[in-house]
Amino acid sequence: MIKLPGLIDPHVHFREPGASHKEDWDTGTSAALAGGFTMVLAMPNTKPPIFDAETLDIALNAAKGKARCDYAQYVGAGPDNADVVAALADKAAALKMYLDMTFGQLRLDDMTLWIPHFEKYPKEYPIVAHSESRSMAAAILFAAIYDRPIHIAHISLKEEVLLIRAAKEKGIKVTCEVCPHHLFLTADESPSPALGDREASRSVVEGGLGVRVNGRKEVRPRLSTQSDVDALWENLDVIDCFATDHAPHTAEEKDSDNPPPGFPGLETALPLLLTAVSEERLTINHLLEKMYTNPKNIFHIPDQPETWIEVDETAEYEIKASGQFTRCGWTPFEGWKVKGRVRKVILRGKTAFEGGKILVEPGYGKNIRK
Ligand code: DOR
Ligand code: ZN
Repeated sequence: MIKLPGLIDPHVHFREPGASHKEDWDTGTSAALAGGFTMVLAMPNTKPPIFDAETLDIALNAAKGKARCDYAQYVGAGPDNADVVAALADKAAALKMYLDMTFGQLRLDDMTLWIPHFEKYPKEYPIVAHSESRSMAAAILFAAIYDRPIHIAHISLKEEVLLIRAAKEKGIKVTCEVCPHHLFLTADESPSPALGDREASRSVVEGGLGVRVNGRKEVRPRLSTQSDVDALWENLDVIDCFATDHAPHTAEEKDSDNPPPGFPGLETALPLLLTAVSEERLTINHLLEKMYTNPKNIFHIPDQPETWIEVDETAEYEIKASGQFTRCGWTPFEGWKVKGRVRKVILRGKTAFEGGKILVEPGYGKNIRK
C-alpha cells in the first residue's frame, strides 16, 4: 500500500447547471473521490455558461449543497465580459478561454476579443486556454506580449509539446496539461471494446445507414496519431499536469447520430497512470509532480490538512463502467487491465472513500476560493 497526497484535477466538467442527467456536483465529486482526487477545478461550459456573478452563484450554490470533495469553479471568457470576470477572479478557479470549436457556447473566434481578457484578468491566476495547434501558438504569443501566465489545456500533438518546450526555454510563462486519453489512445487504433466495436462499425457502413461510425471516439482535441502520442511520452518533462478533462456524456448520447465530444476520466486516470508506473514508463515522483505539486502551485491551491489517499499499487483488475460513480454510464477504457487501485481517501480528517463506498455526505466538499 502506498500513501499519496489527495490528488488535484485542474480540468473537469460537471454539467450542473443545465445537464445533470450527464453528471452533477454529487456524482462528479463522488467519481473524483473514487479516483483518488480530493480537489477538482470545474469548467464553465455549462448551461447557462458560467460567465458573470449571477451564473457563478448558480454553480457555486449547486456545488455548496452537493459537492463531496473540495473544488473551485472556473469563469468563462465571453465577447464582452472581461471586466466582469476580472472582478470575480478571487472567487474563481481561473479564467477559461475557448479558442477552438468544442462542446458548449463559449468561444472567442476573433483575436480582438482576446485582448481585453489578457489585459485585465489578474496575473496571479493563469488564463487556461482550450487552444489547438496554431491557436495554441497564438495564445502563447499573447501570454508573451502581455507578460502573464497561460496554462494550455489538454495538449495532444507533437507540434504543441515541442512549441511549449521552446516557449518555456524563452522564459514565457506557459504551463500545460495532458489527458490520459491522449497518452493511451490513438485515432486509428481502438484497443477498447467501448471505443472500437469494429464489427458494428462495419455493418453501419455496409448497410448504408450513414457516415457516423463510432461516436464514442469523439473528443476535443481529437485522438491523435501514434507519433503524436510518442512525442507526448518522450517530452513528459515539459508537461506540468495530468488532467482528466472528465467530460461525461451518456452512452446513449455518444451512440446517437450527433455524438457530443468528451470522455469521462476521473475514475480511470490514476489506475492507468499507476499501470504506466509499474511498466516503468513513468516514476511515482513524476506522477505526484503532475497530479499534486504542479497543479497546486499553478492554481494557488491551499493545503488540504489531514488529507491523503491510500493506493494498492499491486492490485490488478479490469476497468468496468458498471462499477463507476459517474452518471454517464460508460468509459473509453472498458475492459482494460490495470494495476493500482484506490483503497482509501481521507479528506480533512474524515474517511471519504473506502471499500468502494463514498462515506462523506453531499455538501462536505469546500470551495477553496472563498
Ligand atoms: O471533448 C471535449 N468535451 N472537449 C471539450 O473541450 C469540451 C468537453 C465537454 O464539455 O464535453
Ligand atoms: Zn474540457
